[in-house]
Amino acid sequence: MAHGPRVRRSAVVCVAAAGLLVLEGTLPSALGQEGRRRRPAAEQGPIALTPEQVAQLTKVANDRKLNVDDLLSAAKTFMPSGRHDEYVLFSSGGQSGQVFAIGVPSMRLLRSIAVFTPESWQGYGFAGEEDPVRRSLEINGKPVEWGDTHHPALSETGGDYDGQYLFIGDKANARLAVIDLRDWETKQIVKNPLTISDHGAAFVTPNTEYVIEGGQYATVLGYGYAPPEEYKQHYRGMVTMWKFDREKGRVDVSNSFALELPPYWQDLADAGKGASDGYFFVNSFNVEMAVGGVEKGNPPFEAGASKRDMDYLHIVDWRKAEAAFKAGKTKSINGFPVIMLETSTAEGILHFAPEPKSPHGVDVTPDGRYMVVAGKLDPHVTVYSIEKIKKAIAEKRFSTRDEYGVPVLDFDAVKEVQVELGLGPLHTQFDNQGFAYTSLFLDSAVARWSLGPEHASKHREQPWKLVAKTPVHYNIGHLCAAEGDTVSPDGGYLVSMSKWSVDRFLPTGPLLPQNFQLLDISGGGSAMPVIYDSPIGVGEPHYCQMIKADKLRTWTVYPQVGWNPHTQSLDPRAPRKGQEGVTRNGSDVTVNMTAIRSHFFPEHVEVNEGDRVTWRLVALETTMDATHGFCIGGYNINLSLEPGEFVEFTFTADRPGTYPFYCTEFCSALHLEMMGYLHIKPRAGAEGAPAASDTATASAK
Ligand code: CUA
Repeated sequence: MAHGPRVRRSAVVCVAAAGLLVLEGTLPSALGQEGRRRRPAAEQGPIALTPEQVAQLTKVANDRKLNVDDLLSAAKTFMPSGRHDEYVLFSSGGQSGQVFAIGVPSMRLLRSIAVFTPESWQGYGFAGEEDPVRRSLEINGKPVEWGDTHHPALSETGGDYDGQYLFIGDKANARLAVIDLRDWETKQIVKNPLTISDHGAAFVTPNTEYVIEGGQYATVLGYGYAPPEEYKQHYRGMVTMWKFDREKGRVDVSNSFALELPPYWQDLADAGKGASDGYFFVNSFNVEMAVGGVEKGNPPFEAGASKRDMDYLHIVDWRKAEAAFKAGKTKSINGFPVIMLETSTAEGILHFAPEPKSPHGVDVTPDGRYMVVAGKLDPHVTVYSIEKIKKAIAEKRFSTRDEYGVPVLDFDAVKEVQVELGLGPLHTQFDNQGFAYTSLFLDSAVARWSLGPEHASKHREQPWKLVAKTPVHYNIGHLCAAEGDTVSPDGGYLVSMSKWSVDRFLPTGPLLPQNFQLLDISGGGSAMPVIYDSPIGVGEPHYCQMIKADKLRTWTVYPQVGWNPHTQSLDPRAPRKGQEGVTRNGSDVTVNMTAIRSHFFPEHVEVNEGDRVTWRLVALETTMDATHGFCIGGYNINLSLEPGEFVEFTFTADRPGTYPFYCTEFCSALHLEMMGYLHIKPRAGAEGAPAASDTATASAK
């Protein structure tokens, strides 16, 4: 991807009447220096090392104890200053509640995107008492200001990433968030009305018609109660289909619905595509319906839930489900429409196929013809054929029905093949050479194996066969190849999300970072080396997706000055230059303020104790990266004012005093001077200055 050199503009220096330097609409100084210009990849010609350079390189390698593989790995991952990465890895941030964006192959952290956890740098959740972020994080009236982000899902068109939106699920609280990839900010959070926690979000259908959220631990749907003795009668699983309105960039809750499922523990999902378009697949464990109870001498969940050899792959015909929803064949649970099990069974919406054994991932091949299921306690992956599944459904080749009347397809009728890979297979991704890659948790390895005979001309191996294994450090969970879960995977890179790093990095106390290991999968056969170790010292990242960077259409400044990122439109409330000031209506005060290097306007804001203050702030900047912050100490206010951004916040001025506010971003040479005072005058008749007497008391302690 070619990037032209950055456009340079000469600095326009205005000397304001007050003698302050105001640098408006300029880039940081000294861009004229050649050394600071971005160096596009296109400018780099072929190199030939001189004997002196070879000697230099050899000396560095010997001094640092590097071998030739190390040098090659360094050359494959090093990004010269200003060169951009080829891919962006969007990773769940685990218990941090965030999403991390990481460049590949450099593995440099580009940004953490605040989602379920307030984050002060981004001003996310620190915009006063009516902050829409804080309100969207409430569950049943309680603030739930963290999340366990699990599965990011990029929006797709025709089964391929389109770079428009990113969805991310919160396992702990069964929530789904929508991130707009124009400004990389969270726009919406929806809470599942049926279940408190989940696991299988988010997965999208090939044109992002729906975002699928699978459940996990069965409960009484709609946040109900029943004792564990009534597990089979009253506990249920579910899968929710959130309708996505691409035009609005929001989940359309009123056109979303769920399916009631038996109280197995539904797990990951994947949408069919190509040959399997119109279906989605969810696997499950604990079809034993174990209820645990070690404290009563019962077998623990881990034993009870893994007794049987087979669990059930759930096969859902989502177009039929959509038709049933539109025909009103639903029951309202906690105000949300649910297709009940008897309807799913009667309408042919839901079928099961046996799957061995305590499965975790189900992953659809790029052509959509096969579903790969990895059973944690089975050394094989089991490959199902959609052609065979459709035939078995049409011919009603059921081996049995489960306790809830769901037809179970005959295993041998739907199975294509089983491929032995090793211990603890979890998840599978694909490349452009006809290979599949499966993570092996117990083996701590990535297995490369060949897909069926139709890919033989590409992979040049026997079909359905283990080809190579690369050890990873350690305990790999998910893995992610470049666009490796789309209709057209890119190959080249694969990231192993290794859960333990043990001795890979300097120890950081008893809590150690996790390890994202980058593998070069561009070669065939057994060549699949680890080329970079990247410590992740925040949360426990769970799953990630890797998109070609040139598919993203990221804004670097907001389209207009006065832009409201919540509505993605120009906000009529945004003050314009020349409209600044403070107005009062009774005890309601409105502050209209602008920010530009290096001052706020106005600089003094005077209100009375008890006033209700609505503060509107707009960044007049239109220059890339000219971000300002705005904080008021003691009032829990901190904003990020990106170029053009408008923010409104409200608070009650309930504590009198003198409050300096200042810009929290080092935006210019006179950044420290970018400040002002909020004066909150004590109520008439109140004694003295409370702030001063409090200070005296505090220092006397
Ligand atoms: Cu604006 Cu610092």
